[in-house]
Amino acid sequence: MEKKLYVRKIENGTVIDHIPPGFALAVLKILGLTGKEGHVIAVVMNVESKKFGKKDIVKIEGVELDVETVNKIALIAPHATINIIRNYSVASKSRVKVPDIIKGIIRCINPNCITNKPSEPITSLFHTISRDPLKIRCHYCGVVMSRSDILRALVGE
Ligand code: CTP
Ligand code: ZN
Repeated sequence: MEKKLYVRKIENGTVIDHIPPGFALAVLKILGLTGKEGHVIAVVMNVESKKFGKKDIVKIEGVELDVETVNKIALIAPHATINIIRNYSVASKSRVKVPDIIKGIIRCINPNCITNKPSEPITSLFHTISRDPLKIRCHYCGVVMSRSDILRALVGE
């Protein structure tokens, strides 16, 4: 069935599968993983996918990411699946879901928003008002951001 494995199976950890092609590094960024943490991480990009044509995959060894952390990636990878691997087999598989509330991660696109004032640093906070199409509203200024706004506004980019 499987033509070729680009990266071998892992013994224990988390596999994030079905990431849109080219977005694996953005996923790592949202998860706050830089590589400096010391985990073994495999990043596979633009491989063939039955469902989506092409996809990215991220495998993190020795770490079981919690649902809350992983759900944040739904902002950029709405169809991702999270596989928790134990002793080489898939112990659980779940789909990511955009959280109701998103704290931090995204910078508000409104330059006058209080969260963008350098003098009084406030962590950004958004409420999800629609999942398809994705729309989130800033808790502080009320501006509504779409998926493309979110991609551009990922903190640090
Ligand atoms: N995987 C892994 N190490 C393991 C088991 C699985 O790296 N010990 C990876 C697989 O390579 C795959 C993902 O975890 O990328 C999910 O594995 P599996 O459920 O076996 O694959 P599929 O059935 O193809 O998944 P799906 O139905 O979600 O497409
Ligand atoms: Zn705002």
